[in-house]
Amino acid sequence: MEGEAGNEILRANSLYHVYESSAEDGNVVALRGLSVSIMEGEAVAVVGPSGSGKSTLLKCLGGLMKPSAGSVELGGTRMTRLTGVELVELRQKTVSFIFQDANLLPHLNAIDNVAQPLLHQGVMAGVARKKAMGLLERLGVGDRAFGMPEQLSGGEQQRVAISRALITDPKLILADEPTGALDPITSREVLALFDQLHREDDVAFLLVTHSKEVASFCERSLELREGRFIAQHGAGVDIGDLSDSREFIVDDSGTVTLPPDVLLKIGGPGRFEVQEIERDMLHLERVDEEREEIEGSGEMVLSSSCPACFHSYGDSDEQLCPECGSSRPMVQA
Ligand SMILES: Nc1ncnc2c1ncn2[C@@H]1O[C@H](COP(=O)(O)OP(=O)(O)OP(=O)(O)O)[C@@H](O)[C@H]1O
Ligand SMILES: [Mg+2]
Repeated sequence: MEGEAGNEILRANSLYHVYESSAEDGNVVALRGLSVSIMEGEAVAVVGPSGSGKSTLLKCLGGLMKPSAGSVELGGTRMTRLTGVELVELRQKTVSFIFQDANLLPHLNAIDNVAQPLLHQGVMAGVARKKAMGLLERLGVGDRAFGMPEQLSGGEQQRVAISRALITDPKLILADEPTGALDPITSREVLALFDQLHREDDVAFLLVTHSKEVASFCERSLELREGRFIAQHGAGVDIGDLSDSREFIVDDSGTVTLPPDVLLKIGGPGRFEVQEIERDMLHLERVDEEREEIEGSGEMVLSSSCPACFHSYGDSDEQLCPECGSSRPMVQA
């Protein structure tokens, strides 16, 4: 089946995911009605604070986890309807994963880890190993081909994992912090390789990242907050200051979510009356009496320290904690 509108490689509609728990603080709603569409050959970054649902999203999109509700289509086929074997086949043909930690099989050496997806598809061992060796060399770890995972450094393991992800010539790569464990030089080399795959082989990417370089390799970045995409950013985004380049998103349910700095700018939560409403335009203005009430009850400001790791923000107006990536909350002045 072909994807509609020409060439969508991936499409998700209204994804919800709830991690159920019997603990006192109860269930965690990690995705809240999220929709996304990636075209063939497109590179898209997902940025957002720790705990916003990035890894959960990637796992649901790649069929590693079944979302609580909503649908995912890969190359036009509805994954959420497939049985085990069909799902594995569709995934193997289309998509590869790169995780933050390499996730290598501990009992296989590097080259066999890389060759494994091809062996699974019934390719002859000699052919699979040859291709695996070529990729390991391309990623600068050819001389470690016969090392066991535990004998490799974190960066070497990650390069082996990237080789494994590339061996099936995927049309789409889903990557969760792919360069997180790499030093800056290796990380630049890996990005150059991604860029080449993207430009020359039309491979599509959806990359979760906290890194400027990774985000700037993408044509657009989607900003995730509390399980929802709240904004989109164009190429060359500065992820240290997302407030400069936001395009807000009104989702299928009509919901817009404002990030804390915008909420701060408009004077905090309250009631707004509609001044003008037209196709493609909406003008809201705060109801006056509400504003007085809010001012009277104390202004909202960005918290001076991180509630998770106690990092002190000093004079900065950063939105994300530079130490732990947590979202900076607003508090009463
Ligand atoms: N297995 C799980 N069981 C229960 N809750 C979970 C589980 N995995 C994640 N969560 C919760 O779901 C939310 C989203 O988690 P997720 O791992 O997707 O965030 P993330 O954006 O990838 O964060 P990070 O940047 O730290 O990797 C968080 O509140 C997290 O605590
Ligand atoms: Mg994560």
